[in-house]
Amino acid sequence: MKKFNNFYTDVYSFFILKKNINKTMTEKIFSKLRVGSTFKTTSYNRMKDVNLKLKYYIKKIFSEKKIMLCDIGVSSGQSTLELYNDLKKQKIRYIYGFDKQIYLKIYKIKKLVFVFSSRNNLLMVEYDKYCLRYRYFFIFKMIENFLINLLDFINIKYEKSKVLTPKLDMIDKCKFFEQDIFKIKKKYFNQFDVVRVTNLLNYSYFSKSELKIAISNIKKISKENSIVLINRTKNNKNNTASLFKKKIKNLNY
Ligand SMILES: C[S@@+](CC[C@H](N)C(=O)[O-])C[C@H]1O[C@@H](n2cnc3c(N)ncnc32)[C@H](O)[C@@H]1O
Repeated sequence: MKKFNNFYTDVYSFFILKKNINKTMTEKIFSKLRVGSTFKTTSYNRMKDVNLKLKYYIKKIFSEKKIMLCDIGVSSGQSTLELYNDLKKQKIRYIYGFDKQIYLKIYKIKKLVFVFSSRNNLLMVEYDKYCLRYRYFFIFKMIENFLINLLDFINIKYEKSKVLTPKLDMIDKCKFFEQDIFKIKKKYFNQFDVVRVTNLLNYSYFSKSELKIAISNIKKISKENSIVLINRTKNNKNNTASLFKKKIKNLNY
């Protein structure tokens, strides 16, 4: 009975013991992992229609050329894996997946579990395998710096994990890096033929000025004539995507 509760997440079993890795559990856990003002919410096969449109334009624009793709805000990486499968594999040189949070530090003290990012941002707290939300989570979030120092001071050891689906390790053409869309490293400038950002650039997550910085960084990492795909999956699961082709100085429809 317990496992059917929406807040039963048991992240220790999921990330450390690698148990219960099934679709429903995965989606539930990722929808509760907070990253700043966003969550890692994702689901299986949510962008098939958009991927096929993208495939059409890749074929049209790049013909036989092997291309570099960048997927920003990858969550579990499942949708990146689906992008890889939906595109013709031989046309891909690499797909780079960027996300602000990819590596986790997991502390377990009896029934309490703290999930921190590698940069010590508190992402989730669980008690007795249940995700603590709303005011309980925010109390811990308010003292996240103190908390991590305390855990280290009392010598509680953490265990490391990646948030990415383990299947991705098998695909050498997919590479994942911690990169913040607001501070992308210069070495990635002018690198990509295709840049995809799905379910991240929303007014509900970021201010207008933040979104402008994100767009300017997308422009910086994309090559001349590259395709930029911005997509949002609505509550009814329909996708609303915009495809752009980069021209010198402008991103045009
Ligand atoms: C709602 S999920 C979308 C996941 C996937 N793209 C999809 O559509 O299913 C948003 C993702 O963006 C990531 N994210 C949040 N802020 C970010 C930032 N500043 N830079 C890069 N990624 C970020 C989150 O960690 C999360 O994985």
